[in-house]
Amino acid sequence: MTGQKPYYITTPIYYVNGSPHFAHAYTTVACDVLARFMRLDGRKVMFLTGTDEHGQKVEQSARAAGISPQEFCDRVSAEFREMTALMNCSNDDFIRTTEPRHIKSVQALWEELVKRDEIYLGKFAGWYSVRDEAFYEEGELIDGKAPTGAPVEWVEEENYFFRLSRWQDRLLEFYERNPDAVGPRSRRNEVISFVKGGLRDLSVSRTSFKWGIPVPGNPNHVIYVWVDALTNYITALGYPDTKSEGYSTFWPASLHMVGKDILRFHTVYWPAFLMAAGLEPPERVYAHGWWTVEGEKMSKSLGNFIPPKELVDAYGLDAIRYFMMRELPFGNDGDLSRRAIIGRINSDLANGIGNLAQRVLTLVNKNCEGRVPVAGSLTDADEALLSAVRGLIGTVRADFEEQALHRALEHIWEVVAAADRYIDEMAPWALRKTDAVRMATVLHVLAETIRHLAILLQPFIPGSADKLLGQLAIPEGSRDFIALTGAPLQAGTVLPKPEGVFPRYVEKE
Ligand code: MSP
Repeated sequence: MTGQKPYYITTPIYYVNGSPHFAHAYTTVACDVLARFMRLDGRKVMFLTGTDEHGQKVEQSARAAGISPQEFCDRVSAEFREMTALMNCSNDDFIRTTEPRHIKSVQALWEELVKRDEIYLGKFAGWYSVRDEAFYEEGELIDGKAPTGAPVEWVEEENYFFRLSRWQDRLLEFYERNPDAVGPRSRRNEVISFVKGGLRDLSVSRTSFKWGIPVPGNPNHVIYVWVDALTNYITALGYPDTKSEGYSTFWPASLHMVGKDILRFHTVYWPAFLMAAGLEPPERVYAHGWWTVEGEKMSKSLGNFIPPKELVDAYGLDAIRYFMMRELPFGNDGDLSRRAIIGRINSDLANGIGNLAQRVLTLVNKNCEGRVPVAGSLTDADEALLSAVRGLIGTVRADFEEQALHRALEHIWEVVAAADRYIDEMAPWALRKTDAVRMATVLHVLAETIRHLAILLQPFIPGSADKLLGQLAIPEGSRDFIALTGAPLQAGTVLPKPEGVFPRYVEKE
């Protein structure tokens, strides 16, 4: 659908105190799928990811590694950049919070908040967790630890504060007026009840360490890492220049994708900072679920993480991308296991779409001189399959509007199953001798179905979808969603020799 609003999508920026793991790749791939979908749907897209490089944790990790914080950040940030490329993600920019453009942007936002009397100097005393980079109330502690299980320490110092308490009513009004501002629905209720519970002013500077952006005019203080980090979303658009092309085209963001662990920062603090600075809050923040590995909790701090490369090397890139998007109902928690990955590869990819495409293309190759066959008159069964596959874009678009990525795949696979039933019923291999015209029609309908499926699968498994489209000789310029409503496959087009695109995974002895 052309002429629609530009689409700005962001991943969280990842902490550099550890290397990328599977779940980081998951968040980035989900955003990539959304970004690719919107581009194919004719929208102008900006897709941002990057690294969050300041804070005490990074300072400590650098010290432990015996190098300077900047050197440490350069090293780990490069790993995240490589992970993004490894997963075949189509981000338009990669931001680092140690870049000059970002430091300038954060200081400008700070000064704006000071000018508007939203930040003041006060005294802070409270429980702080270095691991979570967050303060906790006495009442939130469980057995002397943060609710996340992280250790906390008592901190007392002179701090700058953001007048968060002032924003309680306006935040509630904002959620009220924008029912889609927080997704999924259950999370929205969680955020609203947190805000209704009362907001206290937020400490937004630290003096106990140095690795951060200095407070303008008071360099003994560094800016709280969350003020610093969240601002990345507007830095990348050219803030403080709100007239810049990036900012005026893409702000407010269409979607900040986050893990459920950092929802509060994105749906309470961030809109409050923005509104306080006279800027618009993001249109939507969506919290996806949490992965465990073979039933165990995974986290950087606990050290049991799986590097994405290990999985890509073992199973193939698109198999992993597909698994990520299909295995968990998006928004829910779930488990990463080798068995589940192999199950998805063999039943959905190899035996599903792979087998369907291979059967059809082989029959066309053998029985139709390797050319797209001519369709004769269509039966009800032909029309039914074609109308199911033509209707998919509407259904899938609606799924994407609510980030129901797994459901989009389910809907696509319903048509794969319908095509499987159709091919078995029509048995085109048996028609060769008895009714060649009918055989050609059936194979045409099937090839046309595969064309639609492959176009729709591009956001999820871009490499494999590209191969499928190549096998159908679809030119590069006819692969966007407009091509789904445009001309069907051209009869007579010469097709390359078919090759399997989705191999079965065979367990090594
Ligand atoms: N730096 C902050 C985000 C700042 S955004 C302005 C941060 N970084 S992080 O590296 O610790 O985690 C970033 C994201 O990684 C999480 O929000 C989540 O999206 C993803 N995940 C990390 N571990 C995860 C799982 N075990 N499961 C699912 N996603 C998780 O927080």
